[in-house]
Amino acid sequence: MPAVSVFGAQWGDEGKGKIIDLKAAEADVVVRYQGGANAGHTVVVAGAKYVLHLIPSGILHPGKLNVIGNGVALDPIKFLQEVEGLRARGVRVDGTNLRLSASAHVIFEHHRRIDQLSERWRGDGRIGTTGRGIGPCYADKAARTGLRVSDLLDPELARSRLRAALAEKNALIRQVHGEAELDFEVELSRYASLAGQLAPFVGDTGAQVRAAWQANRRILFEGAQGAMLDIDHGTYPFVTSSSTGVDGIPAGAAFPARWIERAIGIAKAYCTRVGEGPFPSEQHGALGERIREAGNEYGATTGRPRRCGWLDAPQMRYTLGWNGATSWIMTNLDVLTGFDSIPVGVGYRLGSKTYAEYPAALPGIEGLEVEYTSFPGWSEDITAVRHYERLPRRCREYVEAVEKLIGVPIEMLSVGPERDQVIPRQPEQIPAHAGAR
Ligand code: IMP
Repeated sequence: MPAVSVFGAQWGDEGKGKIIDLKAAEADVVVRYQGGANAGHTVVVAGAKYVLHLIPSGILHPGKLNVIGNGVALDPIKFLQEVEGLRARGVRVDGTNLRLSASAHVIFEHHRRIDQLSERWRGDGRIGTTGRGIGPCYADKAARTGLRVSDLLDPELARSRLRAALAEKNALIRQVHGEAELDFEVELSRYASLAGQLAPFVGDTGAQVRAAWQANRRILFEGAQGAMLDIDHGTYPFVTSSSTGVDGIPAGAAFPARWIERAIGIAKAYCTRVGEGPFPSEQHGALGERIREAGNEYGATTGRPRRCGWLDAPQMRYTLGWNGATSWIMTNLDVLTGFDSIPVGVGYRLGSKTYAEYPAALPGIEGLEVEYTSFPGWSEDITAVRHYERLPRRCREYVEAVEKLIGVPIEMLSVGPERDQVIPRQPEQIPAHAGAR
């Protein structure tokens, strides 16, 4: 595993935390390259549940190097809370096993405030953000008014750059949103006081990761959110503000694209979304509620109930396609146990038009209706199964039918939250029709 990307192939919450935790056992370095504390990666180890927002899931494995790359929007308060929370539970976290890019942009209180005020301003057009300041921080990065971690470590730069940034943001908060300004000295001392605690983690993480790769270390890139939330290729404007797929890695971790050897998409055996925006295969009413309860589909970061629906094959072909996925992993397969019949989206309709593939060129995909094919369900508990051939026949038929529809091999199935609740598939168990490459 020289350099492998693991990314979400749906709208986030695909169970990446668990898979990355599992893959981290075979890696030497685990790297986050985009997003911020809007992510919530849940990992269960020996019955103990960890929810990681910023720190790579590799932190739970002793001896791994964990890296927060320059493309991450870093909330330093949340970062230090997470460090302390892990230490309090006996996890070793220090400047030798956790590195933070000096070039990562910093999320301040004014970003969080503006995120929430902008949502109010949008009214019915709101995105349903996590309110963690992600969009405003990336907007400042692009506008070249943001502060980076290295700025925070330099008292003079921190003062002058935060003063300039806050003057503009306070005008926005007061004049557009009619809310009280933030006090510059309070904000400066709140953030500048963290510099000493951040400093031991900070460095040129790009150089460190490239050097590790050149020394034959195995690198794992941990995507956050999902490909359908990608700023360019997702359901814009109902997206997050970063490049969530493989293409986020070169920019967000200073790692050459051509060194990335494999790309593994993660997707549930069904589909969920939090926040607003189109979700063609969403199931409203009792069916959606049944999936939500079976899968305990509530957000790890915000606790919001997730919208639930069926797996959508053209959507999967789209995200696995533009990311050049070499394989994918199907999670939460156990959640489908007990459904008499399991529909899978196979195409769309909009008025009199039909689409066999995800219609990314449309201005928006609201109003698309999904055409489904249904597969018979199974009733046996599969949470203790560890070998593919021991799965109920109908369950295997579902997996293989989906694999055929999507055309990318499924390398593993996940059947529960624990580390060991996985079923790897041997190459001979993957039918040729899955387009092995
Ligand atoms: P933001 O990233 O907080 O700006 O939110 C933008 C959109 O992305 C909203 O619909 C959020 O619900 C969604 N989102 C952000 N992070 C995650 C995540 O980790 N999982 C699922 N959805 C997310």
